[in-house]
Amino acid sequence: MYKIKVSFEEAGHEPVEIEVEAGHSVLEGLILNDIHLNHNCGGVCACSTCHIYLEKGEDFVEEISDKEEDFIDRAINPRIESRLACQCVLHDGKGDLEVIVPDQSGIIGHEH
Ligand code: FES
Repeated sequence: MYKIKVSFEEAGHEPVEIEVEAGHSVLEGLILNDIHLNHNCGGVCACSTCHIYLEKGEDFVEEISDKEEDFIDRAINPRIESRLACQCVLHDGKGDLEVIVPDQSGIIGHEH
């Protein structure tokens, strides 16, 4: 089981801490904990709407792929710690991660 501290760029959202099982992606963990993050392609690395900043814990998740990097380039305000949450599948084990959810208001998306 992993602990993920989730902070939000959008004003008015306090940070929360969630627990996510190994084998789940960060996106799945957020959804299971009722935290909104767009995911227009349904989590198959074919959009950039699930963009997050992985501030801590990159060793606990799948490595970034070339395809993921291509889509991150199209995200709003990509940074060195940018990832696509659907591609951050948690390895077996446990640990602490920290993610920042970018402001979702500029993304034309829909919830699944
Ligand atoms: S949901 Fe589309 S890339 Fe993650």
